[in-house]
Amino acid sequence: MKLSESPAWVNLLNHHATLYGVHLRDLFAKDPARLDHLSAEAEGVYLDISKHRITPESLDLLVALAEQEGVAEKLKMMMTGARVNTTENRPALHTALRAPRGSVIEVDGENVVPHVHEVLDAMTEFSEAVRSGRHTGATGKQIRNVIHIGIGGSHLGPRFVTDALRPFVSPDLTMRFISNVDGADLHAAVDGLDPAETLFIVASKTFTTTETISNAQEARSWVTASLGDDAVSSHFAAVSTNLDAVEGFGIKAALTFGFWDWVGGRFSVASAIGLPVMIAIGPKAFREFLGGLHAMDQHALSAPLEKNLPALMALVGIWSIDFDGAQSHAVIPYARDLAALPAHLQQLEMESNGKSVTNNGEQVSVPTAPIVWGAAGTDAQHAFLQLLHQGTVNVPVDFILVARAAEPFGNHQDMLFANGVAQAEALAFGLTSQEVADSGEEAALIPHKTFPGNHPSSVLMIESLNPFTLGQLLSLYEHKVAIQGFIWGIDSFDQWGVALGKSLATDLIAELEGSGISVGTDASSAALIARYQLLRD
Ligand code: F6P
Repeated sequence: MKLSESPAWVNLLNHHATLYGVHLRDLFAKDPARLDHLSAEAEGVYLDISKHRITPESLDLLVALAEQEGVAEKLKMMMTGARVNTTENRPALHTALRAPRGSVIEVDGENVVPHVHEVLDAMTEFSEAVRSGRHTGATGKQIRNVIHIGIGGSHLGPRFVTDALRPFVSPDLTMRFISNVDGADLHAAVDGLDPAETLFIVASKTFTTTETISNAQEARSWVTASLGDDAVSSHFAAVSTNLDAVEGFGIKAALTFGFWDWVGGRFSVASAIGLPVMIAIGPKAFREFLGGLHAMDQHALSAPLEKNLPALMALVGIWSIDFDGAQSHAVIPYARDLAALPAHLQQLEMESNGKSVTNNGEQVSVPTAPIVWGAAGTDAQHAFLQLLHQGTVNVPVDFILVARAAEPFGNHQDMLFANGVAQAEALAFGLTSQEVADSGEEAALIPHKTFPGNHPSSVLMIESLNPFTLGQLLSLYEHKVAIQGFIWGIDSFDQWGVALGKSLATDLIAELEGSGISVGTDASSAALIARYQLLRD
């Protein structure tokens, strides 16, 4: 049966019609207990979904949808190693990466947890060696710069987590990240650095990704040009599942950290892909980060759906996308250090759930992932929030608020927090034309100064941003994405949509480099190539 025709979906459609034209102002006025029904907390992470255009009955019906689609069972299957990535015939077992030592999680009858901890221990050893100066560069100089080379899941997660934990990063280290094949990336990253003090980490699950391998080759030339070929062994580490290719590149086995095909790129920062994070913040803080991820994994697995944070976020997302017609979703953290979160979530959500075919190979019957975007508050207020308040589109927002700053500075945290709450309030309740008139506004300006309100948002609030709470936040979003995928009946763990562009680019590169392969390009692409060759040469 199509999801759109299933009983829980039809119930939701009928219920949605009863809320037509109802304003959040009315919903709040009518139900003083609204917040009790539409909020939840898990180990210090507080979620308020009361500013969505839903009632407690809507939530019951959304939970019924999650039950109909077997969300709890599917989460359990995912976390116990079932091959939930059906098109690639693999488990999606990122939760095993943060399972405590001694846990048992089997893939094909083998407990993977001891292997996870073996790699974590090797990463710990290496991170401590770099941080303490025991591992030096080829000339004996201490490593002061770490440049991580990767793309997609091998870049966004470690970059986001390193940024988010900025106050925890060793002041003795400069951390930089390169992803784009644009040569400007590498130039900017090495600018002002001494190769003798620089360690490169080449991270690629497949170790075949053109961008990463090309950047790694250029980085190797930059090192060997001043330090000689032998320097590669002390200035390069690798993270990959393709150990043969790493060896072929010339990176020694002792500095190669493995992971497994059951770790999806965008879910991989808790694996060895997080090596730059561990070097930056130290192994102890990295294990606290893993602890936060694990704590939220356990909550996702065991909390009842109506108080389950990732399930609630998934369900209000489905309400907005599939019933309210939202095509876009903004994430606005009121924390400068979380500024890279929207970019990480773009891959996590859009690569995972940007699908239009179900697990059975049929066309989906309902819309799936929205466009995810955002920026840190208060910058967002002075850039795009105008459109969300008074424009013509419906964009649900996640506001992320933090109670205590890691580095307090005057009354800045109060101002930051107040701004976040004010935006959520203004979006929800707006300002009526009567209220504007009552304030004495000139008649001609009343329509311009009226705010319709009734714009949905969720508020996530944590006490402070640290490795543990960051782990909780990340796991929360990972499970939200998985739960939405389970409900939509799609494979959230494959990414066939990026394959076509990759293979076309490979053919075009060969043509541009004059290897004689003739690509059957369309007239538009052929003209672009001809113009490029003319300008280039
Ligand atoms: O963007 C496509 C993708 O396959 C991602 O899923 C992955 O995170 C990224 O490329 C990088 O792949 P790799 O880690 O193999 O270099």
